Amino acid sequence: MMKVTICIGSSCHLKGSKQIIEKLQALVAENNLKDKVDLAGKFCMGNCAEGVCVSIGEQVFSVQPDTVQTFFNDEILAKA
Ligand code: FES
Repeated sequence: MMKVTICIGSSCHLKGSKQIIEKLQALVAENNLKDKVDLAGKFCMGNCAEGVCVSIGEQVFSVQPDTVQTFFNDEILAKA
């Protein structure tokens, strides 16, 4: 199971974490990855500087609403 955690802290919320969660949920469903990918929300991860903070295991990414598709393809779909 791949655990993907999306920051829902206030800074990330303002940068679109809700849209990112919704888009990732839709992409996971479309690609039949519901039993392989666990999406969860988490409060501030202390990495507010860039986009919305998303972690996969120990790796931390900075994702924006317009890069979420690429992020999904490269980091989730390719590796799940
Ligand atoms: S609010 Fe998301 S890392 Fe701080």
